[in-house]
Amino acid sequence: MNEPLRLEFNEWALAGKGASMERGHRPVGEQAIERMQIPTQATVLDVGCGSGWATRLMARCARDGRVVGIDVSDEMVRLARDESADYPNVEFQVASAEQLPFDDREFSHAFSMESLYYYSDIARALGEIRRVMKAGGLFVAVVDLYQENEPSHQWIDSLKVPVQLLSAVEYCSLLERSGFMNVRHERLFDPTPVPEVYTGTTFKTRDDFVLYRQNGSLMLRAEVP
Ligand SMILES: C[S@@+](CC[C@H](N)C(=O)[O-])C[C@H]1O[C@@H](n2cnc3c(N)ncnc32)[C@H](O)[C@@H]1O
Repeated sequence: MNEPLRLEFNEWALAGKGASMERGHRPVGEQAIERMQIPTQATVLDVGCGSGWATRLMARCARDGRVVGIDVSDEMVRLARDESADYPNVEFQVASAEQLPFDDREFSHAFSMESLYYYSDIARALGEIRRVMKAGGLFVAVVDLYQENEPSHQWIDSLKVPVQLLSAVEYCSLLERSGFMNVRHERLFDPTPVPEVYTGTTFKTRDDFVLYRQNGSLMLRAEVP
């Protein structure tokens, strides 16, 4: 288990960032999940689930299936469990994406929102995701920090943990090398208006925020042969 990541995201969970990430990520995350067209019987893995908002959203699609969220942060998992008591088809585990505690071919679908670039070994994590997926399965991931989205690079110095800055093509090539096929990327856009006066701390200026939104989120889509 990556201890610095666990501790950092435990702090985020205790500071209420599970809820603020849901607010920030959901407008694009919902679009990505809609594109997955998750059937009622699906078995779905949410990698780096945080507070589990996407896990619960997918559980509404996979009503007769099973949806599992994993996260390296035990406090995030505690939060996710607390908020998911009404979902009988949802479970959470503390685990690292690089070492998934599942058998081969357990899942028909996998999803990951704003998590991949934190992994110290993205190739190994993708190999693990591929391993636990069934033939014909679909993996969809979304990242906001990527090479082509220049304003997002500001986060690299402000984050307290190391992150990896990859381009769309680099992500796709890692997915292909991990055994996925029909790998595609596209941009998704958050329709929420940018406030006239920017008081946030995520970007240095409002213009940076506007450009970040115009660049959009990078969605990766890959199928299991
Ligand atoms: C930016 S948060 C996003 C959380 C959630 N997906 C969301 O959209 O609200 C990134 C999450 O990935 C988790 N994470 C980072 N590295 C991880 C790893 N190697 N294995 C599993 N989870 C990891 C963090 O603990 C954190 O909860």
